[in-house]
Parts: sequence; C-alpha cells; structure tokens
Amino acid sequence: MTTVLFDGIKLLYTGDPEREEIEDAALVAEDGLVAWVGPAGRAPDADERVDVRGRAVLPGFVDSHAHLVFAGDRTAEFQARMSGVPYTGGGIRTTVAATRAASDAELATRAAALVAEMRAQGTTTVEIKSGYGLTVEDERRSLEIATGLTDETTYLGAHVVPSGMEADDYVRLVTGEMLRACAPYAKWVDAFCERGAFDGDQTRAVLEAGIKAGLQARVHANQLGEGPGVQIACELGAASADHCTHLTDADIDALAASAPHGASGTVATLLPGAEFSTRSPYPDARRLLDAGVVVALATDCNPGSSYTSSMAFCVALAVREMGMTPLEAVRAATRGGARALRRTDVGWLRPGARADLVVLDAPSYVHLAYRPGVPLVHQVFLGGLLL
Ligand code: NIG
Ligand code: FE
Repeated sequence: MTTVLFDGIKLLYTGDPEREEIEDAALVAEDGLVAWVGPAGRAPDADERVDVRGRAVLPGFVDSHAHLVFAGDRTAEFQARMSGVPYTGGGIRTTVAATRAASDAELATRAAALVAEMRAQGTTTVEIKSGYGLTVEDERRSLEIATGLTDETTYLGAHVVPSGMEADDYVRLVTGEMLRACAPYAKWVDAFCERGAFDGDQTRAVLEAGIKAGLQARVHANQLGEGPGVQIACELGAASADHCTHLTDADIDALAASAPHGASGTVATLLPGAEFSTRSPYPDARRLLDAGVVVALATDCNPGSSYTSSMAFCVALAVREMGMTPLEAVRAATRGGARALRRTDVGWLRPGARADLVVLDAPSYVHLAYRPGVPLVHQVFLGGLLL
C-alpha cells in the first residue's frame, strides 16, 4: 500500500457538501483512492509527498456528455453559422457519411486523441455516445470503440433518421436489431427529442426499449425549442436531461420534483459550448438552480454544434453568460457531472472516492472563469498517478 500526501494546497475544492472548500489544505491518496482530506497542519504521514506550492486543487472534471466517435469536419458549417445561417441539426448527416466511410482504426485514433485532449485539460471521467453511424454495424462499432476509452458509453442510434429511411422503420431498427447489437457495449440509451429528429412517442419508444434491454436513460431534450423531452426524461427516471435550453415552468417543476430523489433523480445537464458555437441564447441556469434543480455542465464535444473539449471553457461560459457563480459552475462540472452519470466514486474528493484530481496554476478555482482561455491546468492525477 503506497500513500501519497498532496500538500501546499492553497485552496482545496473537495466537492463534498460536508466541507466543500478547505483553505491551506492537504490530501492523502492511498492505492488510487482518497484516504484523507483536511487542514495541512493535521495531515498524517505518507510514503511520498507532492508539494503543489500554493496552487488550487479540485476533483477532475466529469464531462457527462460528449460525441467523440466520428470522422470529418464541419468547419464550413460553422463558418456559415457565423454569417447568420441557423443551426438545425441537419449537419449531423454530413458527419454520418464521413463516419461510415472511415476505418475502425481511424475512428478509434481520433476518439482517443480527443480523450487525451480532454485529460490534459483536467477531465478525468468522460461519457461517449454513438450516433454518427446509424446502421446496425456502424453504431455497434462506434460503441465498441467507445468502450476502449470509457465505462460511460451511450447508445444514441436515435440521433437523427438517416437519409433514405422512413422514421417509423428507423425507430423499429433502433429499438430492435440495432439495440440488440449495441446493448452489450452500452451503459446508457439516449435519444435526440427535437423537431426534425424524434418526437415524444418515438423518444419514449427508444428509451423504453433501451431500459428493457438493461440500459439506463438520458435524453437530448429541449435544445432547439420547447418539447416533451424533459418531461419524458423525468417520467422515465432518466439520469439526465441534456441541453435544457428551452424550458417551460412545467419542465422546471418536473426537474425540481425529481431532485429530492437523489440518486434516482434527473439532472439538468447544460451544454453552453453548443449555444456558443451555434450563436444561440444560453439556458437559464439561474432559474434551474433557484428552483432546486441539480445542474451539471458538460462540453457536448462534437464536430457540429460544440467542437470544444474544454470543461474550463464551459465553466467560464456558465459564469459569464448563464448567471452561475464560480462555485456553482465548478460544482456542476465535477459533482454535477458525476450525478448525471450516477457515480459516487468521482466528482468529489472525499475518503473512498477516486484520487482523480486537477492542480491549477492558480490559487483558486475562481480563476477558471476569471482567466478564461488560459491553460491553467498544471497537473492531472488519475487514481493518484500523475498523467
Ligand atoms: O448535442 N443535438 C444533437 N446532437 C448534438 C449535435 C450533433 C451535431 O450537430 O453533429 C448536440 O448538440
Ligand atoms: Fe449532444
């Protein structure tokens, strides 16, 4: 058993509601897990010592929403948007064509590079969705590649109806043969519930079939307009309703009513990189938080609506554009993401949790928003080991 003492921590953001922040702190990791946190003066002895010299430490970011298995690029679509063309999700089919044409090795290499890019920026847990294959084999191989990179894999066969297929036929495939091929590689099932993608009945059919096959639900809900996605997510006990940009009072009430259910509640996962990159109004995080909804922040990293892998950027956007305080934003990017993935072993630094931690080249996590765009991640430790 090796113990490592991290000391010289100016500010430790633990994410543990019992003592969320500790000034002049220390942390002891033992065999990859947090064994002790507290004031530096009371730290127990350890085999090894890492002096972070007055820097801030926080749990590794938990990016609970990312689409990393794809090929191709949508620079032209982004440029057109910045000249005023609206985002409709139609570009998903461009990425589907490129992804189908790519080899397994090419897809795996690109996804691994994105995960490495995320890790270097402090993300220690990431969820990865399929959704750019949309055939039985292309969805299956996307998920097989994702399982090589994370335990948090999501079957998103219901991303859009592929060109040349009728919606009802496609939903039958997604809930039948495609689900059977994909379920062994997936923990989650997701659907894009939106005008132009899947309506309420289709979304419900996809999620219920997934749940029956042993998967847990999460939903792309209310991104481009109001709709039934959030209500369906809450009703089916989905772990998360993602985007939540266009909400009615009833949607907020449903999310708030699920919050006291703790581990079985539905988290609102906000993805401000998508609003940034589609030049759209940001979700009203203040309204959600004031209603008592559990909020997560994630990147939505994908080549169309949000091609960022930076959780720090999302934190900065949440603070500047969405009315969140730096503390609320950091909480949402760590513990919030963990709750959206129903994980208790990550997203906070308390005894028994994984020693996944980020050392910032700054005295406080506030600098993530105060110094936007600056690469502040000094070191990342995964299970107590330096990346
Ligand atoms: O979460 N909304 C649907 N899916 C992605 C976008 C995918 C794309 O444009 O390629 C999202 O924003
Ligand atoms: Fe998404």
